[in-house]
Amino acid sequence: MNFSANKIKSVSVTADTLKVELKDGRVLQSPLSLYPTLAKATPKQRTKWEPCGAGTGVHWPLLDYDLSVAGLLRGEAEAPGIQLARKPAKYPGHKTGKPHVLAEEPGSAETQDSSPPARLKSSSLVDTRVIYCGDNLEQLKKLPDACVDLIYIDPPFNSNRNYEVFWGETKEKRSFEDRHASTQAYIEFMRPRCVELARVLKKTGSFYYHCDWHASHYVKVMLDQIFGENNFINEIVWKRQTSHNDAKQGSKHYGRLHDVLLFYCSGSEDYTWNQQYVSLDQTYIDSHYSQVDENGRRFQWGDLRAPGGAAPSKGNPHYVVLGVDGYWRYTQEKMEQFIREGRVTIPPGGAVPRYKRFLDESKGLPVGSVWDDINPINSQAKESLGYPTQKPLPLLERIIQTSSNENDIVLDAFCGCGTALVAAQKLKRQWIGIDISPTACRVMAKRLRDVCGIPEDEELWKIGRGFVSRNLPWTEEKLRAIPPFEFENWAVIALGGIPNKTKVGDWGIDGRIFPVGAEPAAFKETELALEERWYPIQVKQKDKVGRPDIDAFETAMRRSKREKGFFIAFDYTEDALREIDRFFKEDHAVIIPLTVNEILDEQIARKLS
Ligand SMILES: C[S@@+](CC[C@H](N)C(=O)[O-])C[C@H]1O[C@@H](n2cnc3c(N)ncnc32)[C@H](O)[C@@H]1O
Repeated sequence: MNFSANKIKSVSVTADTLKVELKDGRVLQSPLSLYPTLAKATPKQRTKWEPCGAGTGVHWPLLDYDLSVAGLLRGEAEAPGIQLARKPAKYPGHKTGKPHVLAEEPGSAETQDSSPPARLKSSSLVDTRVIYCGDNLEQLKKLPDACVDLIYIDPPFNSNRNYEVFWGETKEKRSFEDRHASTQAYIEFMRPRCVELARVLKKTGSFYYHCDWHASHYVKVMLDQIFGENNFINEIVWKRQTSHNDAKQGSKHYGRLHDVLLFYCSGSEDYTWNQQYVSLDQTYIDSHYSQVDENGRRFQWGDLRAPGGAAPSKGNPHYVVLGVDGYWRYTQEKMEQFIREGRVTIPPGGAVPRYKRFLDESKGLPVGSVWDDINPINSQAKESLGYPTQKPLPLLERIIQTSSNENDIVLDAFCGCGTALVAAQKLKRQWIGIDISPTACRVMAKRLRDVCGIPEDEELWKIGRGFVSRNLPWTEEKLRAIPPFEFENWAVIALGGIPNKTKVGDWGIDGRIFPVGAEPAAFKETELALEERWYPIQVKQKDKVGRPDIDAFETAMRRSKREKGFFIAFDYTEDALREIDRFFKEDHAVIIPLTVNEILDEQIARKLS
């Protein structure tokens, strides 16, 4: 059921029933026993309600409690461990009571206006296993407060000029250059989105922002302002390059080898944390587990003396172990058990009892803040879908395993080809994905079906199985009907290009595509440097593109000195295809004729790579 379709008219709670009347006339009745918070409430607390979630949820202000119509329709019970409200930091440094220096920095109006509401409500129910196609700012506003457990985002970076539009970043029909002209513009784009993300995160939730050196420091300051700098937990360095790096011959900088993940909790020390471990490498084993016992088991000696020793404030147990009098870190009973198990002994040549920590009982090393054990996606990898910004599954699996539990809700609001959703599904979490690009949404839907084997099916989804996609705008039929200018924009963006702003003096070229990895050679990036490497795109909203259309495009390619170009239409005549062939053989230039159906096809990435 569409989240926004279920507007509430009235709500009543009796001793044993919750009754919700919808504006379209439906009446939903559920036993009150499904909602312990309501069942335990006083009549006064139950009576006072207000609509929330754009009218599709009920909020009981005296209880600080929400239910969504979508959840009621599915007959879901109150989620265990429902969280109460938190008070987020209005300014970083709020715990000290002093205004933070950053709060005094001149900032955009949004710095003040977009801070999260002072009081956040909790919500137990929200639609999950849904891919929303659209601008995440709009989609997030439709979600109730405090409804997800883990958020991961990997927004397009400042530097991804070719990727930005590849994924449909021109919704407002502003060119990339306008929007991302500076880091400030990037931060201004991200700020209201992060404010919404902070709002929808549960009190026990965690937030990960994936970025790189281009903007990470500015992003950190922005996130400190939104989440509170005291809620910053870690900067994680993901070493994404192995042997290859970007320090080419003659460059005057260190190779840029890593991405940064900024990790925040939502304000409670009680945030979900499942310690993950990495296996010990041989060098570590050789240096740290150098002892071998009589059964051939490798071990290392561990300290048994209590930290703080005899200090009365520590209250450490004091007794004799193997003839040695001391203050120990375990109770006497526990120590005796260790001795019986052969785990405590005095090492040869030693004077103090020590603990044998066996290698075969080690879980490994707790994962630290430098992740160099997860390789980036290589184009030949089985999981590769051909998208340049696709992140490896193990990276998302680590984040999800650490910061959520089974059935928790994971949200990725910039989900690209859906790595976070696939990882969440595999790990038995609930998930919500948002992406502005219809192409990305189709690709991730196919991936979920193929990799996770879950059906995309409205009816099954309603009974708690499968998943659904919402707001996907395009079908061939609709594309035939939209105005030519809209069609051109759609086609260029779907291909990963940038639509031409001017229609005059462009030799009939409708857009440009920058090849993946097109980085300006010079250290100081300029738009001009990038301008040198692009392919033209020509769009015709018609069937049977003929030879004259191809001739015109060839002229445009010659004049702009391009050796490769893309043509998009519904269909081509035989004559047109023969001309494309001739152009290649005689002029050594390539025109790739694409049909609308091919672009709608989820395999488009492979055809372009
Ligand atoms: C770097 S990619 C994410 C890749 C993803 N982590 C993966 O592994 O596939 C960024 C994504 O953000 C999407 N995006 C950009 N602006 C957006 C917006 N305003 N709302 C929703 N999605 C957006 C782009 O379409 C793109 O798919």
